[in-house]
Amino acid sequence: MTVADNRPIGLFDSGVGGLTVLNAARQALPGENLIYLGDTARVPYGTKSPLSITRYAEQALKALLRYDIKALVVACNTASAVALDALQSSYPELQIIGVIEPGAQAAVNMTRSGKIGVIATESTVNNQAYQKAILSLLPDANVKSAACSLFVALAEEGWHDGELVEAIVKRSLSGLFDHYRGGAEYPDTLVLGCTHFPALKLAISRVVGDKVSLVDSAVTTAAVMKKQLTERGLLNPGSTGYVRFLVTDGPERFARVAPLFYSEAVEPDQVELIDIQHFA
Ligand code: DGL
Repeated sequence: MTVADNRPIGLFDSGVGGLTVLNAARQALPGENLIYLGDTARVPYGTKSPLSITRYAEQALKALLRYDIKALVVACNTASAVALDALQSSYPELQIIGVIEPGAQAAVNMTRSGKIGVIATESTVNNQAYQKAILSLLPDANVKSAACSLFVALAEEGWHDGELVEAIVKRSLSGLFDHYRGGAEYPDTLVLGCTHFPALKLAISRVVGDKVSLVDSAVTTAAVMKKQLTERGLLNPGSTGYVRFLVTDGPERFARVAPLFYSEAVEPDQVELIDIQHFA
């Protein structure tokens, strides 16, 4: 007989973006208890140095370990790109899942031409984590990336659509698309390599055209969570898991902005303010 493991799963992001992953996890694993940590005091991560991002990720993990988590999801591409290896080697006994590999796998499954664009934060692009992950699955792929750090602020402000947003999207994507328009090099797949970016999906799709498939790694990450928890006997089947929210700043703002990324209601009193900066 399989024994249900009702310890929670921890998820973290720099802010609200990782709620897109939380959404997908709720759908795929309704019985799991989920604790989401948004490091809202230090968002954005995407323009910070690898040293700072790794320290922030380690502090988030240590904070979540206090809740006796059975697994950790790094629901942030920037932290996955920069710090996943360090976290996995410091905590080999903990199941730690990042969003880059599931996103790369989804892109490879989707592309027909092998021409893949990746948009992400500056740190994720500099780290080339998506290139490496995609090329290891599809060595002939042609992968081009662009940093779109402004999108994080647009997404958090709730500016998801409209003329101004499209103009910013167009300018940010020009290096990836304009030059190749009508040619064989034009990507057929675009990876939204930041958990904030799915909020701008409509504007992005208008700019690149409906022949380009957009990859959002949230759903594939949730599928990987389910597979790995099942393989390790860590699953909590059923349909009544709870969700808790922890933030490092501004619980009211978090509750206000959350519905832009998350399909369930979040009341301010469900969001707990914690300090994680003291973790060495
Ligand atoms: N949502 C995060 C990501 O997936 C980072 C955004 C930021 O803090 O810069 O990369």
